[in-house]
Amino acid sequence: MSHSLPPIPRVPVEFMNRVHDEEAEMLAQLQQQIQAVREGEQTLDSLDPLVDELLQHMIEHFEREERLMEQINFPPYPVHKSAHDEVLDATREVVASWKKQPDADLLESFFLQQLPPWLEQHISTMDFVTARFLASSGIELPD
Ligand SMILES: [Fe+2]
Ligand SMILES: [Fe+2]
Repeated sequence: MSHSLPPIPRVPVEFMNRVHDEEAEMLAQLQQQIQAVREGEQTLDSLDPLVDELLQHMIEHFEREERLMEQINFPPYPVHKSAHDEVLDATREVVASWKKQPDADLLESFFLQQLPPWLEQHISTMDFVTARFLASSGIELPD
């Protein structure tokens, strides 16, 4: 079964959009690779590097936003950070159980069913408000 991933909402800071698009692209790759595993074209183990990359990408994505929020003393920082922490904890748990017992269904259920709507919702609310604040703060933003 394949799912279409929801579109990623735009925010008023370009580098944030780029990071979000990279993550969406990795999720689309995961979707293709899971499909390839099910069709016997690829081994289950071969998904491992992409799973690692996704977790690492999420860690860096969230850290970068958090550093910038700290830099501008953004008042909702703790709320935004705890949303990141919560989804990262869930992701780490899924990755840990994937390492113990590789399972394409588990990856699909988390990365393709639960995470995309979470990202869509998070980006259109917390990231959007943060980006607007960052854009008007006058600090230098990454490319
Ligand atoms: Fe973000
Ligand atoms: Fe965020």
